[in-house]
Amino acid sequence: MGMDKNWWQKEVVYQIYPKSFCDSNCDGIGDIQGIIKNLDYLQDLGVTMLWICPIFQSPMDDNGYDVSDYQAIAPQFGTIADADELIEQAKQRGIKIVLDLVINHSSDEHTWFQQALSDPDNPCRGYYIFKPAQNGQPPTNWRSIFGGSVWEPVPGREEYYYHTFGKKQPDLNWENPVLRQKLYDMVNWWLDKGIAGFRVDAITFIKKDLTWANRTPDGADELANCSTASRNQPGIGTFLHELKENTFDKHKCVTIAEAPGVAYEELGDFIGEHGYFSMIFDFRYADLDIASGSEWFKRLPWTVRELRDKIMVSQMALQKHGWGANFIENHDQPRAATKYLRDAQGNSDAVKTLGAMYFFLRGVPFIYQGQELGMTNFERQDISEFNDLSSIDQYNRSILEGFSPEQAMHFVNLRSRDNARTPFPWNGEQYGGFSIVKPWLSMTQEYPELNAAAQQNDPDSVLNFYKNLIAFRQKGPYQDCLIYGDIEPLESSSDVIAYRRSIGETILDCWFNLGGTTVEERLPQPDAVQVWHTQKGVDIQNGTLRLAPWQSVILKSNTKNGGN
Ligand code: GLC
Repeated sequence: MGMDKNWWQKEVVYQIYPKSFCDSNCDGIGDIQGIIKNLDYLQDLGVTMLWICPIFQSPMDDNGYDVSDYQAIAPQFGTIADADELIEQAKQRGIKIVLDLVINHSSDEHTWFQQALSDPDNPCRGYYIFKPAQNGQPPTNWRSIFGGSVWEPVPGREEYYYHTFGKKQPDLNWENPVLRQKLYDMVNWWLDKGIAGFRVDAITFIKKDLTWANRTPDGADELANCSTASRNQPGIGTFLHELKENTFDKHKCVTIAEAPGVAYEELGDFIGEHGYFSMIFDFRYADLDIASGSEWFKRLPWTVRELRDKIMVSQMALQKHGWGANFIENHDQPRAATKYLRDAQGNSDAVKTLGAMYFFLRGVPFIYQGQELGMTNFERQDISEFNDLSSIDQYNRSILEGFSPEQAMHFVNLRSRDNARTPFPWNGEQYGGFSIVKPWLSMTQEYPELNAAAQQNDPDSVLNFYKNLIAFRQKGPYQDCLIYGDIEPLESSSDVIAYRRSIGETILDCWFNLGGTTVEERLPQPDAVQVWHTQKGVDIQNGTLRLAPWQSVILKSNTKNGGN
């Protein structure tokens, strides 16, 4: 609370997965010119900043999260000139650009790694982590995030290299000061181009437990999740502080870190006044349906009450230390409508209330492409239909853990990263206006009806609802309260999520019914009046609020103690 204002607090971010946004050159793959072509759509939506997933040169084993040249653009996506044009064209529309910084690892096709492999005396060998075999076995029993050992044998040598993610994503050795300086130079090179900042990928993995001790196995593969030995390890702060001092601080840029494994008590180090980053994503409520982000087969039942508790604990911790990055979808998550609404995924009132519920939380709202249309998961029939590395690994691991192929498919369909990666449906024509040739990944079955063009013309559409949400936060009469106001949870019935935003004399009580029945809530402020709502507005009588199924409302009052 009481934090000084920073320019990035008032932003609304839209995340673009370039491969699936819009194909301008008819190769079935989205590209930078495709983004430029649609900047008017984004401006009309009202977003102020774009997070563009990696556009750098890459063999695309993990769709760009495997960078083979940080200062070149993937030819499928365009050129440096296209990137410059995007920055400029976006700027003309008042939109800032945030790029994705993938510096825990590179691609194995990066020249640094190639040189390290071909010549053991090359200095680039120190940029990666090589270890000798232990009696012909990998140096430790740690499991990589995308399955199998973190260690991959080096052809023709009795040694292994380390990878937290896929085997084509060797980890960079942050213990090496020469490498660190090269990374900082690269970061500054991009910042000098006029981007607003970075989303920082998998950054809590850069420090490893240098004792390289085995861990207790935790799966049928007899390996142990590497996170306990390679995520947010003691000493990481030295690297993160140095990174910030040498790059971000000089440009006063925004940084949004993917930083899993940070305890709430440690948030001050990460997002406090002198923290390493501007904001971080908290995955605790996004992963409420599974035991961990890398174990999709360990499904967990959950209730709206648990979702509410997780969100509010997260919000209170973020508020105590700094600022949060709020999201319900991204390129690694299933579609929010399917995950959070389950059987009600096709109910547009439910989709709207879910959107509003997270949008008015304290922090910067992030919208993932297609979320603003209420897109749902894509159910596939066969594992061969998936492109995503981790979907294939999770399928195999589920079977190894004793599940049937049908059960394994079910887990993967619920969680696959390909749910969110289907090409963007611009209209109802063949290939949805995404491309005029067959796209790299199938369109959703619903796209002939569920697409941007159809929703533009429908005043009740989810798309027009998102425009309203954004305008109300950014330009409405309560923008100060909705952007900078404090947050606290409100008591509510079990299917309702409710919280209070307040600043100065303004109090906004926000109510979201995430259930299919009408509920009555006793109002803490009986004098409250509705200033924003979904559906036809709510019924308030004698201090009791009646919320219809899937309805939301914001009530305003001026006195903290109520009117009586
Ligand atoms: C992050 C990215 C994910 C990627 C992984 C490895 O989690 O969001 O898409 O696969 O890092 O770079």
